[in-house]
Amino acid sequence: MSTLPPLAARLRGVASSPVRDLLALLERPNVLSFAGGLPAPELFDLDGLREAYARVLAGPGARLALQYAPTEGNLELRTRVAERLTRRGLPTEPGDLLITTGSQQALTLVTTALLDPGAVVAVEEPTYLAALQSFQLAGARLVTVPGDEQGVDPDALADVVARHRPALFYTVPTFANPTGRTLPASRRAAVARIASAGGVRVVEDDPYGELRYRGAPVLPLASTSDDVFYLGSFSKIGAPGLRLGWVRSPADARPALVVAKQAADLHTSTIDQAAAAAYFGVADLDGHVARLQDAYRERRDAMIAALPGTLPPGSRWTDPDGGMFVWVRLPDGFDAASLLPTALAHDVAFVPGAPFYAGEPDRATLRLSFTTNTPDEIREGMRRLGAALGVHAAATT
Ligand SMILES: Cc1ncc(COP(=O)(O)O)c(C=O)c1O
Repeated sequence: MSTLPPLAARLRGVASSPVRDLLALLERPNVLSFAGGLPAPELFDLDGLREAYARVLAGPGARLALQYAPTEGNLELRTRVAERLTRRGLPTEPGDLLITTGSQQALTLVTTALLDPGAVVAVEEPTYLAALQSFQLAGARLVTVPGDEQGVDPDALADVVARHRPALFYTVPTFANPTGRTLPASRRAAVARIASAGGVRVVEDDPYGELRYRGAPVLPLASTSDDVFYLGSFSKIGAPGLRLGWVRSPADARPALVVAKQAADLHTSTIDQAAAAAYFGVADLDGHVARLQDAYRERRDAMIAALPGTLPPGSRWTDPDGGMFVWVRLPDGFDAASLLPTALAHDVAFVPGAPFYAGEPDRATLRLSFTTNTPDEIREGMRRLGAALGVHAAATT
């Protein structure tokens, strides 16, 4: 009997996302979960989306909306997205954009287009887990850039650029996953300067930028340099099930991105793009985003107010201006992963912080998402977490 060849070597060492694995565990009723980075389903604009799909399927373009379509994406949708980005301070033409199957695919395409095996990728520490998976799958070598409460430290980036000559720097500068931090404008300018002087491509991942609950917007990093790949998404302001994202890319890389997308899936779902384009046209998207902001602001406030009575003395946490996440650092000696079974026994869940680190993890960290629970549920969940931490503290001391 002949043996079958092994699986591709590039998959070795790339672990399944513990967040997605955890989501499977949380199917159990009664668990109050702060684990997933999901938008609140009760806030989806079901009526608006239903109308948008109906318009497309009842209109003269219905058959075209069910046909194969150009790889670059629906022109009307690209026009709407370009207008919205321009209004947010990032001047964009429809031709600058490629529509992708979620912004996750934009990340994969940029990775495919830019990285040869062994290429060096610089990432903030900690950072978005599925970006780490994408770079690891491409055979990249990851180097980490430390930061502080304001996000990545430009001096540390300059040091990493000088020492490692990365091909690419990946960053989530606005309401980051997992920390919730936002990079101030002055640091954005410094990052763009350092990257362009060092010949480093920058990927700015911005799925959360429109979910601001406090303070004035900060311009995207991409507005400071033409060399930045800017990734956007419909998942957090619309609905993630549509799987619609986009990449605004430097002109020289666009043909390579299109080829990479052709090889991946030919094009993003024609009907979903057409419905999203119709939605931009018929719905009050600004009003919808304002409703999301109001609801999420209340939920963030409920969580931030409950944390001092939930966490052991000496804990620290971020108080994000937007997005979905609060990043917690428990006192020295705590291990969030070993706390998780106790938390689950108390019917409450979070994500341990360790998997978000490309380098040496800080095991006392964890991520809490405040979006999918009401303020009352958040208070109850925090009570359970507090109880779990009490049990944990008693069991280990
Ligand atoms: C930083 C970051 N980038 C990209 C994504 C993927 O989003 P999408 O649904 O657009 O693929 C997420 C999703 O949680 C995210 O947190």
